[in-house]
Amino acid sequence: SVVEDFDVEGAFEFAKKLAVENGEIVKVAFHKPKNVDTKSNPTDLVTETDRLVEKNIFAAIRQKYPNHKLIGEESFTGPMSLTLTNEPTWVIDPIDGTSNFVTGFPYVAVVIGLLLNKEPVFGVVFNPILGELFSARKGHGSFLNGNQIFVKKTTELNESVVLSGFTSGRNYENLAKVRGNLEAILMNPAIGIRMLGSTACAMTIVAAGRGDAYFGANFHIWDIAAPTIIITEAGGVVGDLAGEELNLMKRQIISTCTPELMRKIADKITPINPEADGSVE
Ligand code: IPD
Ligand code: CA
Ligand code: CA
Ligand code: CA
Repeated sequence: SVVEDFDVEGAFEFAKKLAVENGEIVKVAFHKPKNVDTKSNPTDLVTETDRLVEKNIFAAIRQKYPNHKLIGEESFTGPMSLTLTNEPTWVIDPIDGTSNFVTGFPYVAVVIGLLLNKEPVFGVVFNPILGELFSARKGHGSFLNGNQIFVKKTTELNESVVLSGFTSGRNYENLAKVRGNLEAILMNPAIGIRMLGSTACAMTIVAAGRGDAYFGANFHIWDIAAPTIIITEAGGVVGDLAGEELNLMKRQIISTCTPELMRKIADKITPINPEADGSVE
């Protein structure tokens, strides 16, 4: 294969260093006034820090791994027509939770994942505000600041705290389904629903056994690639909104601590297909 002589462990250490270094930039900027631009709609925000951090991370990876492919939110233009190859591909979200970054809600993360043969082989999610570095490498477990983490063992919805998240866009057809899905979980009843505004932070909450499940739609591959391996290496499961095999390009996810809980959530909700629903942001 293309990757036989590639030092994945070395790249993993490099990714953690990049996330921490750039996280410091995010942390400093978090406490200062920001220049905010909008992208696809009035609630789809970007700041100069999002752009700077992505530029830094891209430059560092290009220098060390000139042949590797790079995907990043702020460099990505056009419709979601990325084609993944089997080549080593770095997937970066410079700030996951930009609306939190702008408003001062402390769930923001620098997110770096590496795919080989289209599968995540490691993932790093660093929240510089809370000082929490989540990381996982395939076959080697998930860690929070160096301590191994594990998901909970919850199988019942009525014993679960369920996190959720959706698009920054306000597509009404989509929102009706979103509302229906939240009601289906809340009225079931789950203990509660939490919406953090950062997919990566929400998924690491499940990985660390602080919550039981996360589901939603309208994501991009940079939101979920790294968190996915952090969940699975912590003993959790991932799937699409029907509870079937996850496709990182399909813009939707359920991740839970147990397969039983995944099934129960999938059976309660109506799948949302962002592409078919015409959401392009
Ligand atoms: C967003 C966050 C949010 C999710 C959105 C994402 P961004 O990422 O992860 O939780 O609901 O779909 O776009 O724009 O803050 O990097
Ligand atoms: Ca964004
Ligand atoms: Ca994101
Ligand atoms: Ca982002």
